[in-house]
Amino acid sequence: MSFQVIGTGSAAPACVKTNDDLSEFLETSDEWIRTRTGIRERRICTSETMSDLTEHAAKLALENAGIDAKELDLILCTTVRGDYMTPSQACVIQKRIGATCPAFDLNAACSGFLYALDVAESYFFCKKVKKVLVVSSEVMSKLVNWTDRSTCVLFGDGAGAAVLGEGDDMLSLRLTADGNWDALRIPQVNGNCPFGEEQGEPPYLSMNGQDVYKFAVTNMAADLTYVIEKAGLTTADVDYVLPHQANTRIIDAAAHRLSIPKEKYVISIDRYGNTSSASIPVMLDELNRGGRLKKGDILAMSAFGGGFTTGAGVLRWSK
Ligand code: UT7
Repeated sequence: MSFQVIGTGSAAPACVKTNDDLSEFLETSDEWIRTRTGIRERRICTSETMSDLTEHAAKLALENAGIDAKELDLILCTTVRGDYMTPSQACVIQKRIGATCPAFDLNAACSGFLYALDVAESYFFCKKVKKVLVVSSEVMSKLVNWTDRSTCVLFGDGAGAAVLGEGDDMLSLRLTADGNWDALRIPQVNGNCPFGEEQGEPPYLSMNGQDVYKFAVTNMAADLTYVIEKAGLTTADVDYVLPHQANTRIIDAAAHRLSIPKEKYVISIDRYGNTSSASIPVMLDELNRGGRLKKGDILAMSAFGGGFTTGAGVLRWSK
């Protein structure tokens, strides 16, 4: 037994910043950002906190599933950094939505949503749960260095959620990790211990874009091929591909290696930038609420991110 998705939700902060807005204080241009990444604008938290976004996405997903928060048996929140180191983001949300079940965070960077689905699947398999909330929430605008044009233009803020119930719709899943602390990292805040001898690094995201790019292109096509085969399907059976939204050129390159028509790839990076683990559940919610999904549709998902991690899976839609 795996599970079925019975509800989805998503949330984004109100403030929209276009590429032109960024070029007012950075040496960049709409032309560079658009042609190199596909991004036109991103949402940025101004007054909202991550907890606000996460709560909003979670409540919409519960409403869409038609269940009360008290019915949840587990909450999994994926994020690279919650509002607090402790309590976990999942515990903050548990309180805010009025749930009473166990709750914990999971950090697999941009692959977090797929990692959480894998954990949830094990809980369903062991019959420990009947209803699970997975919510992926990221406020990347607080983690990037806004004077570094090579990274800050790429990311955005958002949250996406899915409520899972008993079923057999997760047809295959594959996770990988390949320890690499160099290509993409966000150092922790170091505290102010008077006895510490190390200064620590500035607590901003740093990235070797080209290393991540090469890793992503190689793995996205290979992971999708693997999970589609593992599900007992062929690329012709896939109705939608939900690729992690880091760069449209990465998606194009992966698409070039697979025989799935380009129009089946869902794109949201133009409006949100890279929202790390939130990118796939936000697209799932947009497809669901936009009435674009029909019973039996096959969705192939693929993510990659810091770690390096990858996650991929094939989901049948039966809501
Ligand atoms: O979720 C996972 C996280 N990240 C990713 O997946 C990112 C993967 N990598 C990428 O998407 C691409 O490598 C980037 C979009 C980050 C960069 O694209 P690129 O084609 O690899 O550009 P580059 O780093 O080779 O830089 C080309 C030029 C450089 O100038 P010079 O040295 O050629 O004079 C950069 O300084 O572009 C310059 N540049 C910019 N120019 C205008 C870098 N950022 C900007 C910018 N505006 N924002």
